[in-house]
Amino acid sequence: MGREQIIGGKLISAVKLKKLYLDFFIRNQHKEIVNASLVPENDPTALFTSAGMHPLVPYLLGQLHPSGRRLVNVQKCLRTSDIDEVGDSFHLSFFEMLGNWSLGDYFKEKSIPWSYEFLTGKEWLGIDKDRLSVTVFAGDDRVPRDNESARIWEELGIPKERIFYLPKKDNWWGPVGNTGPCGPDTEMFYDTGKEPCGSGCKPGCSCGKYNEIWNNVFMEYNLKADGEYEPLQQKNVDTGMGVERTIAVLQGKDNVYDTEIFAPLIQKIKEFTVLDLLSKSQIRSLRVICDHTRAATFILAEGIVPLNVERGYVLRRLIRGAIRHGRMLGIEKEFLSELSKVAIATYSEDYPKLKQSEEFIISELVKEYNKFSNTLARGLNRFNKIAIEKKTIDAKDAFLLYQSFGFPIEMTRELGRENAIAVDVNGFYEELEKHHQVSKLGADKRFGSGLADTTEATVRLHTVTHLLNEALRRILGNDIYQKGSNITQERLRFDFNFNRKLTNDELIKVEGLVNEQIKNALPVNRIETTLDEAIKMGSQAVFEQMYSEKVSVYSIGDFSKELCSGPHVENTSQLGRFKIVKEEGISAGVRRIRAILE
Ligand code: ALA
Repeated sequence: MGREQIIGGKLISAVKLKKLYLDFFIRNQHKEIVNASLVPENDPTALFTSAGMHPLVPYLLGQLHPSGRRLVNVQKCLRTSDIDEVGDSFHLSFFEMLGNWSLGDYFKEKSIPWSYEFLTGKEWLGIDKDRLSVTVFAGDDRVPRDNESARIWEELGIPKERIFYLPKKDNWWGPVGNTGPCGPDTEMFYDTGKEPCGSGCKPGCSCGKYNEIWNNVFMEYNLKADGEYEPLQQKNVDTGMGVERTIAVLQGKDNVYDTEIFAPLIQKIKEFTVLDLLSKSQIRSLRVICDHTRAATFILAEGIVPLNVERGYVLRRLIRGAIRHGRMLGIEKEFLSELSKVAIATYSEDYPKLKQSEEFIISELVKEYNKFSNTLARGLNRFNKIAIEKKTIDAKDAFLLYQSFGFPIEMTRELGRENAIAVDVNGFYEELEKHHQVSKLGADKRFGSGLADTTEATVRLHTVTHLLNEALRRILGNDIYQKGSNITQERLRFDFNFNRKLTNDELIKVEGLVNEQIKNALPVNRIETTLDEAIKMGSQAVFEQMYSEKVSVYSIGDFSKELCSGPHVENTSQLGRFKIVKEEGISAGVRRIRAILE
């Protein structure tokens, strides 16, 4: 008996699934919207786009979407919350998600029947309806049980015993941040036909019998900052179907890596190893390498570089994790660039940006590999030595592995898990905090020495440099920081971390924002404080510099706060008109702006 009969659905590829999905919803009057950037454009609180609804939050809250009230797309997503799970059958850090939305248009009465039709219709996925189980929200003291969804499923022919009522932890979609649109959901599961793992076996249990393939969220609430759910002015539908896992299910695989999506990557990894048969832990390593290389490739395509903070840190973690797992497969040479090329080739049609950024992606991967490959072996030796001697990795050990050997804490924790050795992760963060206070705070010889003199013209340019620093952060992102500054009477020169050329539009916005602060005649104030306080106040400080115990902070209105020893003008009205005269790259990931005051 063929696989087809066992799975009772169509054997289709990821490419075909995406096409069918878009066709189905376009046929039902949905408009296809762009596959948004992995870096959220209007949400400074989130590192990456984690769901198709993420870029749509303003529209779910009531703003009119230019494409109308019925939308559909394929969205690339990255979930950092699942990185630790990667290597099992279905979890991925990066994945593609199919979604359709109703912005105050249809609700459960259309959404559920459409999902059913798409899943079971012969023209569409053709899944045997007897293979489908669904879950609905069981209700709690604040939101009632979702009887309506259950009724609709029953009317479609899903028998009562395959409709499961689950609590909030399973059947509720929370907002992306602390507030925002949310609501109960109904989830669709494919029954693989495996024996139940026990009497409590049901969708949501992780034994592998039931695989989730689709989630329809009925967004009718807005979670407010005070913890209250207020009804939204419109009822929305937000659905999500993971491409990789749905394809695995349709192809009768018990994990996403056995699909054609990962086949070329796996093939390439195998070329680098001499191993024939892989052990369980080696299979895990193979999967982690696939996942992490693909994710890193997409993150790099956004122009992000490996760093020790925020997005750059997630990227670094992924790359270094892939390198370590490569070692576990006995790969001793640089292999990421070859793998990344395979990922780029796989996706270049849908994501032309990958091909356009190929040179940058490859060079960053090679650089990061070279940085880490030397310290990795020494760090592993150190880890083993500590593990044997102390049987535990305390805060200082974890910090040493981080600082001297470049081990992200998550890597140390993973090593701990693999070797059944406890790692003091909380203690590590305390150590890190202490270290950052020293390195962030010790700052400021560079500021002082960045000034050629203290003439009036130089001092004016010094003050406007603070405005520029903050304006760059506001326009380009919070992870921008100063890498260097040099000011003469004629011009300022400011170096900062960023990995692509600024667009004209960005330059105009930065200039505009600085000139606005000048026009607003903001007072410049200096206060003396301790390092701790300055950091708590959210002051900007220069990395990799030492500050003394007492520091001074210059604030410019409410716009900027920066650790600095001055001197500055008293009010921005003294500055004149700010103009950027040149923007250029001076080394990988570092840009330089030259600017003047007219
Ligand atoms: N936002 C929902 C999800 O990502 C549909 O599963």
